[in-house]
Amino acid sequence: MAFPKNFLWGGATAANQLEGGYAEGGKGLSIADMLTNGTHASPRHISSVTEEGRYYPNRIASDFYHHYKEDIALMGEMGFKAYRMSIGWSRIFPTGEEERPNQAGLDFYKEVFRELRANGIEPIVTLSHYEMPLNLTNKYNGWADRRVIDLFLRYARAVFEYYKDDVKYWLTFNEINCGCLPLGNYMSLGIRNEGTANFLDQVDDVNLRYQGMHHQFVASARAVIEGHAVNPEFRIGNMIAMMPVYPLTPDPKDMLLFQKNWRDMQYYCADVQIRGEYPYFAPRFWKENGICLDIKDEDLVYLRQGKVDYLSISYYQTNCVTLKKDVAQTAGNLLGGAKNPYLEVSDWGWQIDPDGLRYTLNELYGRYRLPIIIVENGLGAFDRLEEDGTIHDPYRIDYLRSHIKAMAGALEDGVDLFGYTMWGCIDITSASTGEMGKRYGFIYVDSDDFGNGTFKRYRKDSFFWYRDVIRNNGGTEDGTV
Ligand code: BG6
Repeated sequence: MAFPKNFLWGGATAANQLEGGYAEGGKGLSIADMLTNGTHASPRHISSVTEEGRYYPNRIASDFYHHYKEDIALMGEMGFKAYRMSIGWSRIFPTGEEERPNQAGLDFYKEVFRELRANGIEPIVTLSHYEMPLNLTNKYNGWADRRVIDLFLRYARAVFEYYKDDVKYWLTFNEINCGCLPLGNYMSLGIRNEGTANFLDQVDDVNLRYQGMHHQFVASARAVIEGHAVNPEFRIGNMIAMMPVYPLTPDPKDMLLFQKNWRDMQYYCADVQIRGEYPYFAPRFWKENGICLDIKDEDLVYLRQGKVDYLSISYYQTNCVTLKKDVAQTAGNLLGGAKNPYLEVSDWGWQIDPDGLRYTLNELYGRYRLPIIIVENGLGAFDRLEEDGTIHDPYRIDYLRSHIKAMAGALEDGVDLFGYTMWGCIDITSASTGEMGKRYGFIYVDSDDFGNGTFKRYRKDSFFWYRDVIRNNGGTEDGTV
């Protein structure tokens, strides 16, 4: 059997896409609360104030805030060993600037952790998953401002202390390399430059964006240092969105492009957080892009001292790169690219590539030699709730099965992979489009794209399938997943 005995099988979500209850328990508005709904044909709108007549799906999401006991019980029924979730920063510090944390917010997650433990589930907690108090965007332009580092640390310290016996596995920033893309301005860095309104076409200042990412690197490193001081047993990781590419052709120029893409998109951030310093290729990248960063001497010390304990990744699909013009294009998570003629696509046009996962895991492990956990992988699809309350989702099972087989392959290759938390284990609001109809879950939530519905939970066919996968530690009795 490829999977180790204590492999962390489970699921993953993020506070802003799951919880709802956006104004309850003293929570402040977060940047995610200001995103309207969209579709893959029409982009989300970024509001600076709540606008009459617009719908803000993250405010309601799946209403986990009022359903958490039931939801965690369902995870327990599937046999989850781990659950990756995030804490809503604005639940703990509503404006991000209070001197003391909001007790009602702390109590909420305390209860969540208690339920998880009661169900034998290990929490893996992201400190910031595409969410920060809106006030920090309004007042500081988010991570563009160095002062946000200290505000973040006040928050990190508060939750490290309060949950020091409840949580062992932490992640600092979700998909920190999203900041390598203009899309990351608002969602990942809380930067809303003058004139920004269209989620997919934001006003970009590349220097500010990379400065914001630098501030996140320092904040992440300092959180690692402080977390270890609070509890030396803490395991604190980073999180990189894997957007792997292949060269479309064997033209050596495409090969160089492929290599540069891996460096700029994945290794730039991962090297800083894992090796504790900017990579050798960073100066040239900065020069070519007119980036001139304000890096203080003490920042470099923090980066060196605050290296992460493990690496976590999201993985959904792969793309191709080429210098050739007029090639077919495809969509993707965060980033599209040239279409790969060998791959099928999801309903949202993301190419499905399980072998790419095995390739990626080997690449990452070969480079870093750190334990790896996949904290996001899954298929967003349209599901149909039948009259008898069943949901037949063989397409999801096929997707997951092929990726689990790829994981088994990587484990056999020797990769130290210690867990897998399937993304959106319960249906949640999509980050890119705000749709509820783009469903990932094993658990169906009866709500449409506008928050209409009973919010009743239903078990999909994949729910029972995944329960068996976990029960058999990645296999079934006949040895296949
Ligand atoms: C990842 C994010 O990029 O992709 C998640 O970390 C997101 O927050 C997931 O939900 C899937 O993307 P989408 O747009 O289908 O929700």
